[in-house]
Amino acid sequence: MSAAGLFISFEGIDGAGKSTHVAALADAFRAAGRQVTLSREPGGTPLAEKLRELVLNDAMDPLSEALLMFAARRDHLQQVIEPALARGDVVLCDRFTDATFAYQGGGRGFDMAVLQQLERWVQAIPGSEQLRQPDLTVWFDLPPAVAAQRLAAARVPDRFESQPQVFFERVAAGYAQRLQGEPGRFARIASDQSKEAVWQQVRQAFEQRGWLAPTGGAA
Ligand code: TYD
Repeated sequence: MSAAGLFISFEGIDGAGKSTHVAALADAFRAAGRQVTLSREPGGTPLAEKLRELVLNDAMDPLSEALLMFAARRDHLQQVIEPALARGDVVLCDRFTDATFAYQGGGRGFDMAVLQQLERWVQAIPGSEQLRQPDLTVWFDLPPAVAAQRLAAARVPDRFESQPQVFFERVAAGYAQRLQGEPGRFARIASDQSKEAVWQQVRQAFEQRGWLAPTGGAA
């Protein structure tokens, strides 16, 4: 018996703490007998990882930044995500297209209509009217002031992490706007809580959908 593929993305402003929960979910799905493809954006393929290096570190104009995000996404979709879904894997992707709407659209103020056009081109499913979108997007919602405190204690910042708090307020608003447009696709996780409390919310989002059995295991 082969299970249907499942595509999950994880989003939130820098410092929201998604990484540990992505890893814990990968363990939970493997323990449930599923094949897991763990990936990230920008990145996930040799080409997309090169683009990540550029876009996180080199100065460029907002259109170049948006185009590189979508170029990386196109390669990642074709090389990794689509084949994994076709195999029936659970694809756990640390950021996907909502990040472009939040960071380039909200944060940088780039034209959302252009982003929507790029999204239509890049995420088109051949022979279908629909776009490839996650089955679920887990949004770690954290007040930007709290994220700023966390980031202050973190490693050397990249081009996004070094932005002022007001930038992240616009990014957070960008995420909220995406959720409003498609509420059924999102699980909003109140992330200004202990790691364990956040994990319980994450786990519950998957149990509610019947994707993980209720066990209440810890992260
Ligand atoms: P992040 O996912 O936070 O990785 P790490 O945990 O290694 O820092 O870093 C990716 C950065 O790229 C993050 O600041 C958000 C940004 N980003 C965009 O601006 N647009 C996008 O479309 C994506 C996918 C990421």
